Amino acid sequence: MQKNQSGYSIHNMELGPMENFVYLIHDHASNTAAIVDPAWEVEEMLNFAEKKGIQITDILLTHSHNDHTNGVQQTLEHCDAQIHLLKSEEKFSNDNTHHNLLAKTSIDKPTLHHGGDQFKIGESTIDILHTPGHTPGSACYHIGNDLIAGDTLFVFGCGRCDLAGGDPEQMFHTLKKMKTELPASTILHPGHNYAPQAPTSDMNAQCHGNPFLHFDKPADFVKYRMQVHDKIRESPYEAVTKQQACDAIK
Ligand SMILES: [Fe+2]
Repeated sequence: MQKNQSGYSIHNMELGPMENFVYLIHDHASNTAAIVDPAWEVEEMLNFAEKKGIQITDILLTHSHNDHTNGVQQTLEHCDAQIHLLKSEEKFSNDNTHHNLLAKTSIDKPTLHHGGDQFKIGESTIDILHTPGHTPGSACYHIGNDLIAGDTLFVFGCGRCDLAGGDPEQMFHTLKKMKTELPASTILHPGHNYAPQAPTSDMNAQCHGNPFLHFDKPADFVKYRMQVHDKIRESPYEAVTKQQACDAIK
């Protein structure tokens, strides 16, 4: 659990066989919360909120992949929560039902957003970033000094770009923008726990040690992501210097 002075807390649970993180953004003033990417044994997070007397009012999806959404239905049965995702991700999900994405029945009347939108959980404001690359409508949720990043950015890693809807060049531009625009102190909360020694990190550490933030040219990034990375690295991920990343694509 992470507490701060900003009037909210972020709780995380690592659930399921793929090291997924499910998050709860708890607004203290209203004692309401948003659950992010409800999946796997989501009842553990639902029970945690119930025991604390926290009302879950919203479900935030970073993207539509099954390992981030297979607890949506169960969450809706437990609480009357409103689903949020990007409009472009809903379209992608509807067009690719054969890829076992978010079941259509689960996204009845979601609130569809665009990058740059803001909304509130109680008194806490959440900014929505459109971060395509892993999927066309991937989103990151930015609240205070925290970033819930889904499968866009991991601690010393980034999401795959070889699945349906993935695009490594888009990912390059997404990560470049994040590197440039997010304050160095921003705390990263990834969608998977691929660096169990340090499940969270900050952008400063990522800018210095995340290989995917080291490349200056799109072609170099694409080569590293699509041809090199999976052959030379596996989780748990550790920091990589810029020199090491550049040497790897020679
Ligand atoms: Fe994913």
